Amino acid sequence: MTTATVTENHAASLTQEGSLNAVGLNLIVRPRRLRATANLRSMVRESHLRIDSLISPFFIVEGNNRQIKIDPMPGIFQMSIDKALYEIESIANKGIKAILLFGIPDKKDAQASAAWQKNGVIQVAIREIKKRFPELIVIADTCLCEYMDHGHCGIVDKNKIVNDPSVAILTQAAVAQAEAGADMVAPSDMMDGTVGAIRKALDNAALSDVPIMAYSAKFSSALYGPFRVAAQSAPQFGDRKTYQMDPANGLEALREIELDIAAGADIVMVKPALSYLDIISQARQMTKLPIAAYNVSGEYAMVKAASAQGWIDEKRVVLETLTGIIRAGANLIITYHATDVADWLK
Ligand code: PBG
Ligand code: ZN
Repeated sequence: MTTATVTENHAASLTQEGSLNAVGLNLIVRPRRLRATANLRSMVRESHLRIDSLISPFFIVEGNNRQIKIDPMPGIFQMSIDKALYEIESIANKGIKAILLFGIPDKKDAQASAAWQKNGVIQVAIREIKKRFPELIVIADTCLCEYMDHGHCGIVDKNKIVNDPSVAILTQAAVAQAEAGADMVAPSDMMDGTVGAIRKALDNAALSDVPIMAYSAKFSSALYGPFRVAAQSAPQFGDRKTYQMDPANGLEALREIELDIAAGADIVMVKPALSYLDIISQARQMTKLPIAAYNVSGEYAMVKAASAQGWIDEKRVVLETLTGIIRAGANLIITYHATDVADWLK
């Protein structure tokens, strides 16, 4: 084959519908035309990562003047509330509008007392933060694992995680968080019936304006490892597979999302994000509610580790993956990269 024939064949293969298009012209389709300059690319860009879509997580510990490195999450710290207030001021100045709070009490027990007591670590933190930053959207993660001595997300009875007693305590925790001033509660326990129970309890407590962001499709993932170091919440026996979802199950994830919507969720979540983009995309087809995606600790740790080695370009990788999450259909992203992204998008 001559070079000319190769070029001709190539041109033919690029021609729409055989040789002639609808208006009788023999044209090569050239998508590259719209990629020629930065301005053109920007003009036809379909998905946009915006600061407004980002939610920045915080790990709050008790006491004062504490700022503790989390080894597998470089750049992220456990902070006592006084330290956290400085950091929150800084991220708010960068334009971040929402934070997600995790509380780590000094004393853990089998009733998750600090999760629902009025002066539990996170209730105190919420009051302090809302006093100083009334406009900031403060979302409280509602779960029991950080508060339980055994590290499970629910009540344990004879080595089993029992559903309904767990929901009762989770409900008290959500009400305590909202009473402390949380703008939104985010149950992440994966028990059955939590969202409906919390909705009812909030409504009964005259907190019907507080929305629920439900961790609806939360998979039992190896990518939570670094978080469990950060929250000191690794289960002391067994694993979370009797409540969190099997990573193989897409239909079941959609069913969980449907159930939470029926129970009154205002925002539904898929977690982790990157291994579950298909679920985000299918959820997008299924509901008109906002969808949140959690770019989890293991996803963060992998990027940080590779970039520390100089093996990847951190900024480009983060912007690409977060844009991919938006393109898949998420409206909100919870990410430990939020502060950096806020700087990069300026
Ligand atoms: C606990 C909880 C987990 C995360 C958020 N809430 C971890 C777990 O289920 O052990 C994971 C977040 C992350 O990995 O960044 N209910
Ligand atoms: Zn939990």
